[in-house]
Amino acid sequence: MAVTSTEDDHDEQGRPSAWEAAWEVLAPVTDLITPMAVRVAASLRLTDLMADDAVPVEELARRSDTNADALGRLLRHLVCRGVFTEREPGRFAVNEPAALLASDHPSGMRVRLDLGGFGGQMDLAFTGLLHTVRTGQPAWETVFGAPFWRYLAANPEMSVSFDAMMAGGADYVADAARGYDWSGVRHVVDVGGGTGALLAEVLRANPDMRATLVDLPDTVDRGRQYLAERGLDTRCEFIGQSFFDPLPAGGDAYVLRRVVHDWGDEDALLILRRCADAAGQHGRVIVIESHGSSGDHPAMFAEMDLRMLVLSGGRERTVEDYIAIAAEAGLDLADVHSTALGHVILDCTPLGP
Ligand SMILES: C[S@@+](CC[C@H](N)C(=O)[O-])C[C@H]1O[C@@H](n2cnc3c(N)ncnc32)[C@H](O)[C@@H]1O
Repeated sequence: MAVTSTEDDHDEQGRPSAWEAAWEVLAPVTDLITPMAVRVAASLRLTDLMADDAVPVEELARRSDTNADALGRLLRHLVCRGVFTEREPGRFAVNEPAALLASDHPSGMRVRLDLGGFGGQMDLAFTGLLHTVRTGQPAWETVFGAPFWRYLAANPEMSVSFDAMMAGGADYVADAARGYDWSGVRHVVDVGGGTGALLAEVLRANPDMRATLVDLPDTVDRGRQYLAERGLDTRCEFIGQSFFDPLPAGGDAYVLRRVVHDWGDEDALLILRRCADAAGQHGRVIVIESHGSSGDHPAMFAEMDLRMLVLSGGRERTVEDYIAIAAEAGLDLADVHSTALGHVILDCTPLGP
């Protein structure tokens, strides 16, 4: 096996070799070992399992049902990268970065990185990025054997995990709910509303409002339970259907939060048309997206844009893109603004005759 020795990587004057100089620059953006190692630690809940004290690796292997030798080698790598400490040979403990991986940490980071849940799965889809760039097609299908939404429908556990991730981040959901003036809205329809996290916030803040949750049937069933647990289900109707089919008419506002960016232009237009048709001449369509559609956060925009492409063939759009697509759907962009936590809210009304 060929190995590269750093000692050999200097010339006679002690200057780094071309390989070493290049590696220094590229290592931070190319290393796959550490990101995988952190995900494995999160998946195995190592922080939870050594919360009490420094734990001998054999005991930790017993607790995590893993191979002690391999686990020790994983941890030693992570220790070198600053995650966990080795208090004495073979005894590992949680340090500050490792504490972020606790199941009860408010960031929810452990679940996000768990390779057995949707967060980890979403990251693994990027092993197919080369295919996506060559073909323009989402990698998800080649990596997991079925297109994104069909895969979720066929894997209920992953679908539950996806719904939970969408409903997570209470501050962020509250930010979207607070970001719109709901005073003229008596009946809100959340289209592709997931399990109803946004509706719960909006209904709680507006006691006279009623709502309709539209999503795929299994997700709507979970939504019924979610809103019932919060005592809000009696003010909500639950409709399990595709948003590519005609939507229930008569709402004052049709909300699409983080829905349009899941889809390519043709599908996005159809969804917006369905909302515009249902809203009629008196309703409005509120598109809520994130990650700098307003141009404020180009790096987040670019990352999410690539993510949408790899997962489902969707894309992030600028405000100008939304104005164009909304016009095609018969909608006029009446107002656009950003919220404190970076949602972009596009308030659309029917185009005049
Ligand atoms: C990215 S999630 C956003 C969920 C929620 N609006 C939010 O912001 O958390 C997209 C939602 O679209 C739903 N969805 C996907 N395809 C759908 C379809 N054909 N008809 C109805 N809902 C669909 C998914 O089940 C999911 O809840």
